Amino acid sequence: MIFAAAAVAAASVAAPGSAQVTGDRALGQYLSSECVTCHQLTGKQQPGIPAIDGKPAASLVEQLNAYRTKQRPNEVMQNIAARLSSDDIAALAVYFSSLKPRN
Ligand code: HEC
Repeated sequence: MIFAAAAVAAASVAAPGSAQVTGDRALGQYLSSECVTCHQLTGKQQPGIPAIDGKPAASLVEQLNAYRTKQRPNEVMQNIAARLSSDDIAALAVYFSSLKPRN
């Protein structure tokens, strides 16, 4: 039974497109101070910098993991994601997805 429960838990985390991301929102808010120097939360778009507030947590996790594993090219985001743990990424995803997009 323990094995079965673990398998179910692992599957729900790995499910693509799943909205079930568990993370520490307060940690995400703390870590976000670095992100918002580039990713504006005011609705003002910087050229070439996508808005990340209000995006589904699962897609933010996917995108950050793609930079971290260097599957997605972009030196700036690859270097930032390389410093983040999986917990940091989940926390950031939960925080940014909880914000209302302002644009
Ligand atoms: C120095 C500026 C800068 C900082 C700081 C920064 N980003 Fe980015 N971010 C970018 C740029 C530029 C892109 C677009 C890269 C590309 O074309 O793939 C991007 C893309 C992204 C994307 C993909 C969005 C999409 O819709 O495709 C996510 C998610 C993201 N950043 C999250 C973060 C998080 C979380 C942090 C803080 C830990 C952060 N970024 C810090 C500049 C920055």
